Amino acid sequence: MIREELLSCLRNGKTISGEEFSRRFGLSRAAVWKTVDSLRKEGYVIEARTGLGYRLVKTPDVLSEQEIRSFLGQIEIVGKDLYCFDEIDSTNTFIKKLSVSGGREGAVAVANCQTAGRGRMDRTFQSPKDKGVYLSVLLQPDMAPEKSLTVPAMAGVAVCNAIERVCGARPGLKWPNDPVLNGRKVCGILTEVSLEGETGKIQFLTVGIGINVSQTDADFSPDVAKMATSLVQELKHPVSRPAMAAALIEELDRLYINLKQGNSRDYLEACRRDCVTLGKQVRILSAARRNPPEAGQDRPSNPDEETVTAIDLDDQFGLIVRDSHGNQRVIRSGEVSVRGLYGYTD
Ligand code: BTN
Repeated sequence: MIREELLSCLRNGKTISGEEFSRRFGLSRAAVWKTVDSLRKEGYVIEARTGLGYRLVKTPDVLSEQEIRSFLGQIEIVGKDLYCFDEIDSTNTFIKKLSVSGGREGAVAVANCQTAGRGRMDRTFQSPKDKGVYLSVLLQPDMAPEKSLTVPAMAGVAVCNAIERVCGARPGLKWPNDPVLNGRKVCGILTEVSLEGETGKIQFLTVGIGINVSQTDADFSPDVAKMATSLVQELKHPVSRPAMAAALIEELDRLYINLKQGNSRDYLEACRRDCVTLGKQVRILSAARRNPPEAGQDRPSNPDEETVTAIDLDDQFGLIVRDSHGNQRVIRSGEVSVRGLYGYTD
């Protein structure tokens, strides 16, 4: 497409005259001008310098395939197929549908906005327009379901790596896999597994990641605002969403190749280092125990929660905890919510 070719000529910072474009692409000068004009309407800032030509000054902060690919390096599996949406119900739902209609392993869906974003434990994930990176990937590892328990850890480390690369600050991970900055959640990760009925083998996994990039408190509902934040809120500088999406795709690609080769050691080690839950006293809220205490009810006397000390992660990414009687046990993600004694992480 002429639009893409024109843009990629301009991306290297060169100034190119309308005449040269016309010659290169066999177009009239008016057709070149029309293309430049429509790019400007999409948010590209293109300077026209008399006697010299066109120069690309600024690209828009949109999650379009072209913008994401302009930041994307070499990838092998994740991101080869890239589906970009201005608005969608949920990128996880899209990927699940895609998997049954022949979608390729590594296919990625990215959206500027979700109208029915889903979170863990049947919660909704607020996904306001143009404020976050909402991305899901289709994974089809040939492995037993129990081996896939480390996939959420892989996704958590991929997010921390991507944020560190793009923003220069590394989040911590609140177990199981909430990337946090200054004790508040900056990203949500939802891993969903589909198993074959007869064999119990993994059919596919959908890993959905929502990074809060430029939300303010007003973008979150009051209950979410207490524990959520965004990169811009914490780091106080602008963050490019297409650059973030591209870095995330690259990190997922690299770590997923490791996972397929049976090498989960590296990202599990990174996960242990990043995990802000370890060494802390935490409250465990099981599925039946998730409702907050009634007004006036004392936290410690609530029979629906338990305070334990988080000690370590096991090789399947379970949280090893010690209870008040000194007994150790392993908690698997999905069965509980973990909270700090005084806040979301602490
Ligand atoms: C959580 O924190 O509870 C997990 C939230 C996961 C949100 C992401 S956004 C992209 C993908 N699509 C969804 O509907 N959910 C995930």
